[in-house]
Amino acid sequence: MGELTVTVAAIRDEAIDVRSFELRPARGASLPPYAPGSHIDVHPAPGIVRQYSLCGDPRDAGRYLIAVKREAASRGGSAAMHERVREGQELTIGAPRNNFALVAGASHHLLVAGGIGITPLLGMARHLVATGESFQLLCFSRSIAHTAFRDLLSGDDYRGKVGFHYALEPDQVRAYLRKLLWIRPAGAHLYLCGPRPFMDLVEATAAPTWAPDAVHLEYFAADPASLSGPRPAFVVKLARHGGEFEVPEGRSIIEVLAENGVTVETSCEQGVCGTCVTGVLEGEPDHRDIFFTDAEKRANDRMTVCVSRAKGARLVLDL
Ligand code: FES
Repeated sequence: MGELTVTVAAIRDEAIDVRSFELRPARGASLPPYAPGSHIDVHPAPGIVRQYSLCGDPRDAGRYLIAVKREAASRGGSAAMHERVREGQELTIGAPRNNFALVAGASHHLLVAGGIGITPLLGMARHLVATGESFQLLCFSRSIAHTAFRDLLSGDDYRGKVGFHYALEPDQVRAYLRKLLWIRPAGAHLYLCGPRPFMDLVEATAAPTWAPDAVHLEYFAADPASLSGPRPAFVVKLARHGGEFEVPEGRSIIEVLAENGVTVETSCEQGVCGTCVTGVLEGEPDHRDIFFTDAEKRANDRMTVCVSRAKGARLVLDL
């Protein structure tokens, strides 16, 4: 996957603890085009890589825009973005990838953002304004001051299409969403991004009326529950490289392979980004990621080797 060098052209405060970073190609290079919902890897400091959604206008080929919330429990990524990255600095990023695409031909797009979850949905909303497709964007946040891009989304382009909701308790959100989601207009699709509890609440409220394939989710991080549970040892066999290696209870496939000189490209190492996806030739994976859809997991022909394991005693990987 290609890496790109960009220059940080502008940094702006967009809300309390949220900053946007405008990235332009460095040294005369150009930026690959991207579709709404795409994200990029960003390397804000040595040894740190994080995924951020592109929230600018996908038609603007000359720059990428990302927005980062400074997390109190930062593992280093958001703190590095807020404290170390400065205007004029060069940054290494990855090419855009999209696990959260708008559905072509949908009759209506309902976009629901919790907090900083606005970022991929803003790119979608910009696109939908440009194409004139039917959409509604709902932004849930703690307060006006915590709402990133509020001025933009209050402008004429978005009139009648954006709703802001502040400081609601979960019961209030649930009651509001029940009314909103109790009928799914034919051909409509629902897109969610936000903190895990918020997404869980919206997804559960939509479930009685919105079919799973009409609901699209973009997670920031894996659910700890998906990474827990029994982790019995198993054996991986590498079809092309050769060799069989035991993956003990407390180790991951990528750790064991790295120890044996087999490097698999990774990024998030949390089952979120899909960088480490590897073909499965035999055996049944124990999918622990949030990258694949349920249907893709059932196909059992690919797996994320950073977090996923084996249901049986042995897996044969296309490595
Ligand atoms: S490295 Fe991101 S899913 Fe495995």
